[in-house]
Amino acid sequence: MANDISVIALSSHPALAGEICAHLGVKPAATEIIRFGNENILFQCQENVRESDVFVIQTSCPPLSDHIMELLIAIDALKHASARRITAVLPYFPYARSDKKDRPRISITARLMADLLETAGADRVLTMNLHSPQVAGFFRIPVDQLNATPIVCNELRSTSELGDSVLVASDVGEAKDLEDYANRLGAPIAIIDKRRPDDSENAKAVGLIGDVAGRNALLVDDEITSGGTMIAAAQFLLEQGAQRIEAAAVHPVLSGHAYERLADSPIERLVVTNTIPTPSGQRMEWISTVSVAKLFADAIYAIHSGESVSRLFV
Ligand code: R5P
Repeated sequence: MANDISVIALSSHPALAGEICAHLGVKPAATEIIRFGNENILFQCQENVRESDVFVIQTSCPPLSDHIMELLIAIDALKHASARRITAVLPYFPYARSDKKDRPRISITARLMADLLETAGADRVLTMNLHSPQVAGFFRIPVDQLNATPIVCNELRSTSELGDSVLVASDVGEAKDLEDYANRLGAPIAIIDKRRPDDSENAKAVGLIGDVAGRNALLVDDEITSGGTMIAAAQFLLEQGAQRIEAAAVHPVLSGHAYERLADSPIERLVVTNTIPTPSGQRMEWISTVSVAKLFADAIYAIHSGESVSRLFV
């Protein structure tokens, strides 16, 4: 690895940042991050980054606003420390679901995030499975969006009997991603008609396009937040005659009592990635977590050396 690369591991996900650095064969740069009594954050890079190609790793997880401020402050500091190029590495993009004006006078915060990152001094963004790919278009700087589907599919292929399975999108929005899963796993598909009457966690499955009767259902979504969508979908699929329910999602937000709710649900197995840290003590054997660290490391190396990033998705 060339000497002019620096990796900054911010506070949100040191385990993933450490794994990425191990794959790259670099040490995270020494930094100091102080939170003062008045909640102000101080960031200092304790190594020279002048003319360096800098990658700042920060995922979206609680305390979210604090992590966003830390990211912006770090990018600003690195810019003023004369970094040659700064790439914000955001495994789970903050405010990814706030991406459209679907109600009057509503905030579109994914777009604001783009403005904030550019204003702070980011030159590029590297992220993974955006809730809607159009978010990349909110930026005027290059955005590389990695795809975790091949990694998740490898895990499903090696540990599940997929012969009699139907892939099921947990809502219509997920149908496009489902095509990628179906092409890789060679299974038929079905799509759930999900309704969310308000902003609460009360997702309802009200219809099904496709047939799951007598078959195993493999539910797919980009993220699981409260678990409400997956649980409602799983219960609905059983009512439609599915035999067994498994599930897969890229981003395990798993907020509030999601673990307990999912453990009590008909979902027998769940595959997720490590874009978001798992709270300690919450590991369960029916949840498999596959690592995306090598893919991020390969993408960082490709960006650094001017190689294609899209070739990594095959
Ligand atoms: C929404 O459209 C997303 O794809 C997921 O379905 C949603 O984030 C899941 O949220 P929850 O687990 O709270 O139902």
